Order: sequence, then C-alpha cells, then structure tokens
Amino acid sequence: MPGIQERLATGKGKFTTQYPYLGTAPVDYEDSVSQEFFEAERDAVFRRSWLKVGRIEQLPKKGSYFTRELPGLGSIVVVRSTDDTVNAFHNVCAHRGNKLVWQEHPQEESKGTCRAFTCKYHGWRYGLDGKVSHVTNEDQFFGLDKDSLRMPPVHCDMWAGFIFVNFGKDAEPLRSFLGERMLELESYPFDRMTQRFGYRTRIKGNWKLSIDAVLEWYHPPYVHGRFIDPDVAKAEKLVPPVDAYHYDIFDPHMLTSVPGPSPLPPREPGQLGPARRDQKWVYRLFRAGLFGPDDVPDLGPLPEALNKGDIRSWGNDSFWLFPNFSVQLWARNFYITYQYWPESVDSHSYELDIYFPEPANAQQRLAQELVADSTVEFAMQDSNTVEATYSALATRANEQFHLSDQELLIRNFHKVIRDAVAAHRPAGTGAAHADSKEERR
Ligand code: FES
Ligand SMILES: [Fe+2]
Repeated sequence: MPGIQERLATGKGKFTTQYPYLGTAPVDYEDSVSQEFFEAERDAVFRRSWLKVGRIEQLPKKGSYFTRELPGLGSIVVVRSTDDTVNAFHNVCAHRGNKLVWQEHPQEESKGTCRAFTCKYHGWRYGLDGKVSHVTNEDQFFGLDKDSLRMPPVHCDMWAGFIFVNFGKDAEPLRSFLGERMLELESYPFDRMTQRFGYRTRIKGNWKLSIDAVLEWYHPPYVHGRFIDPDVAKAEKLVPPVDAYHYDIFDPHMLTSVPGPSPLPPREPGQLGPARRDQKWVYRLFRAGLFGPDDVPDLGPLPEALNKGDIRSWGNDSFWLFPNFSVQLWARNFYITYQYWPESVDSHSYELDIYFPEPANAQQRLAQELVADSTVEFAMQDSNTVEATYSALATRANEQFHLSDQELLIRNFHKVIRDAVAAHRPAGTGAAHADSKEERR
C-alpha cells in the first residue's frame, strides 16, 4: 500500500508566488518583541477591530449575562436584553466608577441571569439596556439627569451565534468586516454543536507566535513527533506532503485546509483483542483521536464553502479571523475555536474551545473526551515551543527569519498586523512598515 506521501501528493505546490505582494524576502520579527510595537498594536488593532467574546448559547434567556475581562481593553458585560437583542457595556458604574458586575472576586469573570444590575458600592441599579433605573437617595443629588446615566455601550453584534464587540468609536458593520468568504459559513450547524470542552492557559510569549504555530504544517513531525511516531524519520513520512494542503487569503482573514485520515470502519465484536498499555489501542478502544470521533454524527449536508481546495481525504478548514480568533471546522463534524488575548509584549492568554453535537450515549461522550484531550495535548506541545521561540527571539541575537513556501500565511499574518499598525500611527511617528492593503490591489 502506498504511503500517505504518495497517496495525497498533488504536485500543485508553489503557494507564495500566487501573492506577489508578499514577496519572498526574510522577515523581521521586531513586531513580536518590541514594547513600542505592542502598544501601537493594542491601539491600532485591538481597540478598533471586531473581537469575538462569546457564543449565544452562553445567553440562553432574557436577562442572561456574562462578563469578560479583556486584557488592556477593560471589563465588559454582555447581556441578552428584554427585547432579545444582545448588548455589551463597559462594566463601570455611573456614580463613582465601581466595577458593576462581579461576584466573589472583582478580577474574575462572572455570569448569571438577572432583571437588573445593582452596584455593590451604593446600590444604584441598571436595566438590561444599561440605563440607570434607580439612584439611591436620588433627592440628595444636584441636577442629576438620570435618563442620561448609563453603563457606556460597546458596539456589539452577532454572526453565526458568535458574539463580537468592537471598542472603536466608529465600527464598520460586522458583516462587512467578515466579508463574503466568512459569511458563506453561516449555514454551518454551529447551533447544533452544544457540547463544549473549554481550556484556558497563559503563554509566556508574544500572541502572534501562537498564531504562527497553527498557520503552517511544517512542524508536526518534530513538535508532535511523540504522538505521530517517536522515530522522526517515520513521523516525517506519516505527515501529508506539502502540496496536500490548501491556503487561501481573503484579507484581512485567511484559511488553511488540511488533509486527515478516514474514520475507522464500524467496530466488529472482538476486533480489539486483549487490552494493551498502548496509546494506539486506547484510540481504537474509544474510537476517536486528534481528527475526531470515528463514529461521525450525521449533521446533514455541510456548506459548500468547506474544502474549497478539494483536498483528497479532507481533515479540516481553519478560518483565521483578523486579529485573534480562529474557527476550525472538522470533517468529522465538530469544531474548535482558538483565541489569543495579548496581555503584554511577552504574554498572552489562550482560549481553546471544542464543540460537538450532544453525545447520544456514553461511548460518544468518551470519544469526545478523548478528542478534547488529544487536542489540548497537541496545543500544549505547540505552546511549549512558542515559549521557547519567544525567549530566544527576545534576545534579538537573530533578527531576520526565513519563511518557506508553505509558511505564506505567517508572512501574510505579520504583514496585515504591521499594515494595521502603520495605518493608524499618528503622522510623523515612525515609518510605515509595509505597504497598505489598498496599495497592493
Ligand atoms: S459607585 Fe456604584 S453606586 Fe456608587
Ligand atoms: Fe502544532
């Protein structure tokens, strides 16, 4: 039987040259180690972009709310109001600025259901529309215009059940920011994937390095070798060939599609044989692995927007949404979201959420657990490498890096971020680092 390299090879190759504006020169990683760039990036990118903050399933009824503590951006309250719209507000009281919504610890995120928010300091109350509805001892205030008092609103909109906010003064409509290629995914059955496994951690390294680690498939035999085959020479042969992947750029977003193995055939009684202390045996027992459950739930036809690169033995599509969010839709009917929140130039918080349809029985539940477990294990192998990379980059002993053809999305990613920063730098404060999006059209 031919190996995976022969079976999946297409001979297409040569990706970067399809995007001549990206060039092929070595790249400078100052954007990942510079404090000055980090501050400019927070203003130009994070204070002006649509940022995903949750899903509609987190707000099941009127009055449901959750708070988000967004590093460098502040605390917000996201609430389903009495008219069923979803709104977001800065989490701050109009009286003397106390944080309005929190439970045991002010720095922790909270969630719940209520009819009104009450400030813990002096008891002012707010309706679900964010407006002040009660002022304690109102007659003791001087010319208070109660109708104008409120939690300051933050732009908030939804797409495909994902809740986004935008801290900019003027925000372009969410749908125009997403663009046609993302909107095509709207018919994906996100609403049926309600079984969620979440994982959170902090990674000591610039947030962009974590995104770099999922924009190429060059590293798996080395970073994930233990899972593929401890013998690197064999692991290299088990990873699909370079030309089996598909890359697409639709600025400012992009896509990578990857091949994946077919599910195992249905289980025959006695097929497994006696129990062994062996990882591969566990995967066969649970009928699941990194690529998903082997008993794939039937969700009907999936949107045609998937696997546009016509990958033989398609595994998943990872859509990366500018600036810090990615949605990975898997052939075996589950999806994963990844999000990276910069805390400082050398640290970010990392959020991984895996969504499946509700399991119909214990076997399906165990299969989902094993998929989640394998995913987190792989993610942590990537994160370890990110911490190692950052610590070395930060020495600036080496400042020019070389990107291969299959690393074109990394080339593009750093460029769109640098372009966004350059576009919002006040005039005369440093040269624009790269040409703008308009110039390249
Ligand atoms: S600070 Fe909120 S009621 Fe006083
Ligand atoms: Fe990886």
